[in-house]
Amino acid sequence: MASVREITLQPRGDSRGQLIPLEAGGAEVPFDVKRVYYIFDTTPGTVRGKHAHRRLNQVLVCVSGACTIACELPDGTRSEHRLDWPTKGLVIEGVVWREMKDFSKDAVLMVLASEHYDPADYIRDYDQFKKECGR
Ligand code: TYD
Repeated sequence: MASVREITLQPRGDSRGQLIPLEAGGAEVPFDVKRVYYIFDTTPGTVRGKHAHRRLNQVLVCVSGACTIACELPDGTRSEHRLDWPTKGLVIEGVVWREMKDFSKDAVLMVLASEHYDPADYIRDYDQFKKECGR
């Protein structure tokens, strides 16, 4: 079952500032994390992603700056999610077409992933995505 879910991460703040812990298997990250990567220094106006995954689940947090994640579920339902603060997270599970866009200059998009990098897990062609979704 594919899903896209916005989550609010709980900061453990005190007079020194803020800290957010993310634990694998917890409420925020509902899988074991096998890989972390982050996207930064993005060329203005660029759109990244433009793919779906067959098996991979992810949690995305823009830990600095802002960006927008556009998603399309297998049934064609579309949504956009502005990640512009470190307490905002997006959980993407199942076969979801995603695009990342409107990056601010200082954007650092961190992605927690349930699997190691596997090019074979990618659906990079939009028509193929629709075909695999039975559309
Ligand atoms: P790419 O899939 O094009 O990024 P995006 O989804 O943001 O558009 O990945 C860019 C490059 O990084 C490409 O050469 C593949 C490589 N890469 C890895 O080696 N490991 C990874 O975990 C990821 C996500 C990408």
